[in-house]
Amino acid sequence: MSLAIQAEGLVKRYGATTALDGVDLEVPTGSVLGVLGPNGAGKTTAVRILATLIRPDEGRALVGGRDVLRDPVGVRALIGLTGQYASVDEDLTGTENLVLIARLLDHSRAQARIRAAELLERFGLTEAAGRAVKTYSGGMRRRLDLAASLVGRPELIYLDEPTTGLDPHARNEMWQVVRDLVADGATVLLTTQYLEEADQLADRITVFDHGRVVAGGTARELKRQVGGQTLQVRPTVAADVREVARILTELTGIVPDADPATGLLTTPVADPALVSTVVRRLEDAGITADELALRLPSLDEVFLALTGDRAREEVPA
Ligand SMILES: Nc1ncnc2c1ncn2[C@@H]1O[C@H](COP(=O)(O)OP(=O)(O)OP(=O)(O)O)[C@@H](O)[C@H]1O
Ligand SMILES: [Mg+2]
Repeated sequence: MSLAIQAEGLVKRYGATTALDGVDLEVPTGSVLGVLGPNGAGKTTAVRILATLIRPDEGRALVGGRDVLRDPVGVRALIGLTGQYASVDEDLTGTENLVLIARLLDHSRAQARIRAAELLERFGLTEAAGRAVKTYSGGMRRRLDLAASLVGRPELIYLDEPTTGLDPHARNEMWQVVRDLVADGATVLLTTQYLEEADQLADRITVFDHGRVVAGGTARELKRQVGGQTLQVRPTVAADVREVARILTELTGIVPDADPATGLLTTPVADPALVSTVVRRLEDAGITADELALRLPSLDEVFLALTGDRAREEVPA
C-alpha cells in the first residue's frame, strides 16, 4: 500500500493554544480520509501544514513522499487545496477566475481558456461562467472554489469543510463531485464537522478533538469501537413491557431504557448471539413484538461518546 500522506507527531502551538498536540495521519493513495472534529479541533491547522502554508513546531509529514519542510515546492506541485473560506475573486467571473489561476500555473492563454471551460462544464457552471462570482449562490461558489483547486490536475486534493453552510441540495451536489474525483483516482483529505458526510464519502475516518486524534477507522469500525450494539424491542401489547424488561434485565444484567410513550425498550448488548435467546424467551412467554432489532450506534452517538458533550454543543445542527 503506498501512502499519499504520512504524518507523525505533528505539533502546532499558537501562544498558549496547542492547535495540534501530536497528530499522526496516514492516507493510502487513491483513498478518502475524513478528518472529523468539532470547531477548534485542529482540522484546518493540519490541512495547512500538509499544504505547506504553515510549518509544524514538531513532527514530520510526507506528501507524495515529499517532505513538507524540506520540499514545500515539490509538495505544492502535487496538491489542490479548497480552503474553508472561499478563495476566488468576487468581482471576477467564473471564467476569469479559472483563467487567472491557469495563467499563474504557466498555461498559455489558449490552454487556460480550454482548461477553464472544461472545469466550468464539469461543475455545472457553464451558464454562470460569464457572471461575476458575487452573483453566485453558496453552492456555486464552493464548486468554483473546488474547480479552482483542480486547474493544475493535482493528484491529491484537500477539501476543508467543503459543504459547511450549504443547503442539503447543494451538499448532495458537492458529494457527487467528490465521488467523481475519487472515481477518477484522486486521493482526498476531507475535513468535516458532519458525521454523515464522513460516513458518506470517506474510506477511513480520523476523529480529532482538542488537537489530538481520539479515534480512527472505517465508519463501521468506529461504530463498533464505541459501546457495541443496541437491542431494541417493542412488545405488541403495551402491558407486556414490564415482563419484557424483566427478561432483558435477566439476560443482560442491565435494566433496559423504556420509552413510556412508544413502549420501546432499548438495551446495550455485548454479544449479538443474545438476540436469539431473547426471541426464544419471548416466545416461551407468549409475547409478540412489533419491533425487534439489533443496531450499531449511529455515527452521531460515536462522535458524542468520543469527544464528549462539548462537541455536540458546537456541531451545527
Ligand atoms: N493563526 C492562529 N493564531 C492563533 N490561534 C490559532 C490560529 N489558527 C488556529 N488557531 C487555534 O488553534 C485551534 C485549532 O484551530 P483550527 O482552525 O485548526 O480548528 P478547526 O478544527 O479547523 O475548527 P473549525 O471547524 O472551526 O474550522 C483553535 O483553538 C484555534 O483558535
Ligand atoms: Mg477549520
